[in-house]
Formats: sequence, structure tokens, C-alpha cells
Amino acid sequence: MIFEQVPVGTFQNFSYIIGDPDTKKAALVDPAWEVDRLLSLCQNSGLSVSHVINTHSHHDHVEGNDAVVGRTHAKVVAHQSSPVRKDLSVNDGDTIEVGSLVVKAIHTPGHCPDHICLLVEGRVLTGDTLFVGECGRTDLVGGDAGAMYDSLFDKLMILDDSIEVYPGHDYGRKPSSTIGEERRTNYTLKPRSKEEFIKFMAEP
Ligand SMILES: [Fe+2]
Repeated sequence: MIFEQVPVGTFQNFSYIIGDPDTKKAALVDPAWEVDRLLSLCQNSGLSVSHVINTHSHHDHVEGNDAVVGRTHAKVVAHQSSPVRKDLSVNDGDTIEVGSLVVKAIHTPGHCPDHICLLVEGRVLTGDTLFVGECGRTDLVGGDAGAMYDSLFDKLMILDDSIEVYPGHDYGRKPSSTIGEERRTNYTLKPRSKEEFIKFMAEP
């Protein structure tokens, strides 16, 4: 797999390139702020963009969708509840085929209702659900601390320790991590009951 984490814009966002070396097809995940650069990087690797996949509908993750589509005719993929203009809707457990790569969507509401994480070849792209050393905020419109608890503990922490974690923002001490490392060191993932977690998320 061709895989690139690309820091973009001024909000410490990460966009991602997921490319299939056999068919040279690629998905751009959360294209924003620097579409020219993202498309040049794809071109340099000989990749044609077949899909845009959004982890969630917040502006800083989707604002490049239209520009990418205008220049590549990529199909936009997002959770079925996402308000973005999309060609393909996915729900929990659905897969997206990017050439011969299989990307699995994991529905992880909590930061916002339409959030999905993306599992592909030993990596999970966690958007604004899980950062290195942090979890996503739940105090924005559509945020839900109880749903975040279920997403973190029932959807992400059941993954194998060796799975690499690639977040939607560069908010941690390093740009990526693993499920095992987050399980051990991320203070938001300390054992708590759901009630305790909701209280914890409400603290300033
Ligand atoms: Fe967000």
C-alpha cells in the first residue's frame, strides 16, 4: 500500500493518501486546505484519485472535496448521516474498494454523529475521534460524550494493539501511534465507567 500522511492548513489537519500500487488507484481522506499539493503528491506517485473519503463532515475535513472532484471525478464517500454531497454512503462495517485495497468503515459517533474511522491494512485513520494522547471534543453541535465512550471503548479499543493510529489532527507529541500505545498512555482511555467518562468530558 502507498500511504502518506500530509499535514495541511493552519489547524494542524492531516489529510491522507491511500494508494493501491497495483491498480494505481487512490483515496484521498479528508482533503482540505491544500488540494493542489495533495493532487501533486498523488500524481508524483502515479496515482489517480478514485475516491474522496471523509471521516466526518466538519468544514476543516471536507472543504477540499469539490476541488478534488472537479479535477479528478472521484466519488465522494461518507457516512450515511453526513450532510456532505456524496456518491456513496457507508455505515458501520461497510467496505470501500480502492483498487484492490479494502477500506473498512467503523461508525464512531461522539465528536459528531456522522463520524467514521477507516481501517486499512494494519492502520486505522481515526479522524477527530482519537488523537495521539487525546480524544475528540464532544461539546460541539452533535457531540455526545456517551456515544464517544462507546466508540472509543467498543469500536477502537477492541482493535489489536499493533494497529497503527493515524489521527485527523497533529495534536499529540508525535504524528501517529498505535492502539496499544494509546491504550497504555492516553489519559482519556483510562478505565472509567460510562458515567465517569461523561462527567470527565464535561470537566473544563
Ligand atoms: Fe471535527
